[in-house]
Amino acid sequence: MDKHFLHIKNLSKEEILDLIKLSKDLKSKFRNKEDFKHFHNKSLAMIFAKPSARTRISFETGFTWMGGHALFLGPNDIGIGKREAIKDIARVVSRYNDVIMARLFDHAHILELAEYSDSPVVNGLTDYNHPCQIMADILTISERRDSLDDLHVCYVGDGNNIVHSWLQLASRLPMKFTCVCPEGFAPDKETVNLAKANIESEIIVTHDPMEGVVGADVIYTDVWASMGQKEEAEKREKIFADFQVNGKMMARTGKNTLFMHCLPAERGRETTDEVMEAEYSVVFDQAENRLHAQNAIMVALTS
Ligand code: CP
Ligand code: NVA
Repeated sequence: MDKHFLHIKNLSKEEILDLIKLSKDLKSKFRNKEDFKHFHNKSLAMIFAKPSARTRISFETGFTWMGGHALFLGPNDIGIGKREAIKDIARVVSRYNDVIMARLFDHAHILELAEYSDSPVVNGLTDYNHPCQIMADILTISERRDSLDDLHVCYVGDGNNIVHSWLQLASRLPMKFTCVCPEGFAPDKETVNLAKANIESEIIVTHDPMEGVVGADVIYTDVWASMGQKEEAEKREKIFADFQVNGKMMARTGKNTLFMHCLPAERGRETTDEVMEAEYSVVFDQAENRLHAQNAIMVALTS
C-alpha cells in the first residue's frame, strides 16, 4: 500500500481485494464486539472543511473501537488553508496524530496535506473524489454476489466525485461501468481515459438513462448538486429531471438490480421514497460498510 489513501488508482487489484477481505474480517469482529485494539494509545485527527454525518461518525466510532482517540476538527476550528498554510498544518497535526483523515474542497489541498504529513492521510472526500465511499460500496456489492466477475454498475446523475472514484476502481478491477448523465455534466475526461486504459473493463458515458441502465446489476445515484454547488440546485433540478432513479427506471434493467446511493439523499429529486425503501435498496448497508471499509484502510496503512 501507498503511505496515504488518496485515490483508488493507487491500489493494485490485489490490494483492493485484500482490503475487501480485511473489511469483512473487521466487520465480523466489530459486530461480535470483539476486542481489537490496533490503535491503542494512538490518535486520529479528522479535519472537515465540509459537513458530514457518515464520514464523521464512522471514522470516530471505528477508531474508538480500535482503541484510539479521534479528534473532530470542524470547518471553524483550524481553518485549513485560510488561517494557516496547508503545509504548515500538515506538519503540526502529524506530529500530534498517528493518522489524519481530511474532507476538503480542493483536491490539490489533500495532495499538499499528504505531501507534508509524516502520518498517513486518508481522503474523506474532495471535490474530485470519494475513495472511502467506493471501497464501502464494492464491499457492499461483494456481500450480495458470489463473485465480482461480470459486474455492471450503472451510475445515473451528475458526473461528480463519486463517479471519479468508481472510474478509478474500474481502472483496477474489471467491470462494466456506465455513467448516464446530462450533456455538460460528464465526469473528468482524464479519469474516464484512465478507466478505459484497463482493457478488462468496459466504460460507457452516455446521456440516455432508459438505454444506459439496461442489464445493470447496480443502479447508483447521488445528489444532483454536491456540497459547494448547492446554489445551482434549482437550475440543475430542471436539467436532471429525466435522470431521477424511480421505480420505472429500476424496472428497465430487466434484472434483479440493486439500488445504491452514497447518501445523504434528496428524496423526490435524484430518487424517490419508493426506491429508497425498496427491498433492492442497499443504501443503509453502504452506510454501515463505511465503518468497516475505513477500519480496514486505516489498519492496512499502519501495519
Ligand atoms: N456518504 C457520505 O460521505 O456521507 P457524509 O457526507 O454524511 O459523510
Ligand atoms: N457528491 C456528494 C457526495 C456526498 C457524500 C457531495 O460531494 O456532496
